[in-house]
Amino acid sequence: MKKFSIVIAGGGSTYTPGIILMLLDNLDRFPIRKIKLYDNDKDRQDIIAGACEILIKERAPEIEFLATIDPEEAFTDIDFVMAHIRVGKYAMRELDEKIPLKYNVVGQETCGPGGIAYGMRSIGPIIELIDYMERYSPNAWMLNYSNPAAIVAEATRRLRPKSKVLNICDMPIGIENRMAKILGLESRKDLIVKYYGLNHFGWWTDIRDRKGNDLMPKLKEYVSKHGYVIDDGDSQHVDPSWYDTFAKAKDVYAVDPDTLPNTYLKYYLFPDYVVQHSNKEYTRANEVMDGREKFVFSECRKIIENKSSKDSKLHIDEHASYIVDLARAIAYNTQERMLLIVENQGAIENFDPTAMVEIPCIVGSNGPEPIRIGRIPQFQKGLMEQQVSVEKLVVDAWIEGSYQKLWQALTLSKTVPSAHVAKLILDELIEANKGYWPELK
Ligand code: NAD
Ligand code: G6P
Ligand code: MN
Repeated sequence: MKKFSIVIAGGGSTYTPGIILMLLDNLDRFPIRKIKLYDNDKDRQDIIAGACEILIKERAPEIEFLATIDPEEAFTDIDFVMAHIRVGKYAMRELDEKIPLKYNVVGQETCGPGGIAYGMRSIGPIIELIDYMERYSPNAWMLNYSNPAAIVAEATRRLRPKSKVLNICDMPIGIENRMAKILGLESRKDLIVKYYGLNHFGWWTDIRDRKGNDLMPKLKEYVSKHGYVIDDGDSQHVDPSWYDTFAKAKDVYAVDPDTLPNTYLKYYLFPDYVVQHSNKEYTRANEVMDGREKFVFSECRKIIENKSSKDSKLHIDEHASYIVDLARAIAYNTQERMLLIVENQGAIENFDPTAMVEIPCIVGSNGPEPIRIGRIPQFQKGLMEQQVSVEKLVVDAWIEGSYQKLWQALTLSKTVPSAHVAKLILDELIEANKGYWPELK
């Protein structure tokens, strides 16, 4: 059986050890001959890499391992690029969240002005990764989950339309895991779902088991009372702020009880609530820096010191096995049905054909084949047209270096109350992002 060679771009990510452990746990489904880590921050990556090298030596010593900041070394002889970079790291995420909050606007990693700022930072470096891949391994595929995925996906559509890049998000997967538990099913793979929207902005319209039984009524009854809160959730979304997000899905659901919502809609439908419940001095970035980042890096340092992962608290990121499902779909033409962020091209009949939408696709060796959604209701269409226009204006602004377009993007965001506030936030974001954004005129 062919063995694959992969590079993880953003090797210094807090998710890398969990993903490596997941890959090592899935070698029977997805055999690997080489794993490389690539990052542009050597010191950060070295700590993660030092631990990963030991994890791999202990569990699968036959796999060749290498960590590098040299693109040629990283991207040569590669079948898959798994990309999860965070341009500007947590320091910039913190500003993305805190600057809008000063003006009582949602401060969030991927939604509203914070997401726009993050998008403006990410477009260039993501295009750079694609170009490295195509230069050094022209047959490779990139599986991208770097955020903000909606803006990144629109940018790759515009700037690298022929590139083999698949954009995927784990939020629907996390929610579907919860749905399966609510229903008492073993796995989310027992669910056949219809879903449509934009990334971090979508709805389930139909959920059945493999026999065709409609599972929506039971789920709706549960979500109308508890949102997506369950006793034992996933290992990724555990902090109190995530609990609040899953609970708030109850109120988001009430706005359109015909569908089940993605949790991220709370930022657009209840921005006033979100701002009231935010701490302007201590945001999610602080929580992650004090929590996940400290934990992962200290566990990695321990592994390096002990030269062993014995007693390590690092755990397999089971939920990340969707990445293996996606790689397998391409490698083995599995024709698995998965939610991906793809160009609409008529799948949603009454919506911009050039919009990047998140919909079910059948994935095989040629890439994704989107499933037809048909016509969508006025409420969703209105929300999506507004949000997709924000995302397109950001990409326009990046390409043209246009202050005007970016001001329009912020003004159009449902999270921002006026063009005046949009401008105040934008001017601060420009200062904060010097060196990351193209110069705007
Ligand atoms: P992190 O800061 O711990 O890791 C990101 C790494 O990327 C850092 O080591 C950083 O040095 C590196 N990096 C930044 N710019 C780079 C560049 N130009 N080239 C190479 N490396 C670069 O962040 P994290 O919290 O572990 O998250 C990583 C990414 O995964 C983020 O974009 C996050 O939003 C995303 N994510 C996406 C999903 C999804 O559903 N799509 C789920 C989880 C995380
Ligand atoms: C979900 C989303 C990701 C996002 C992550 C943030 O998994 O799908 O796109 O990056 O949440 O989690 P964090 O713990 O970093 O706030
Ligand atoms: Mn996501």
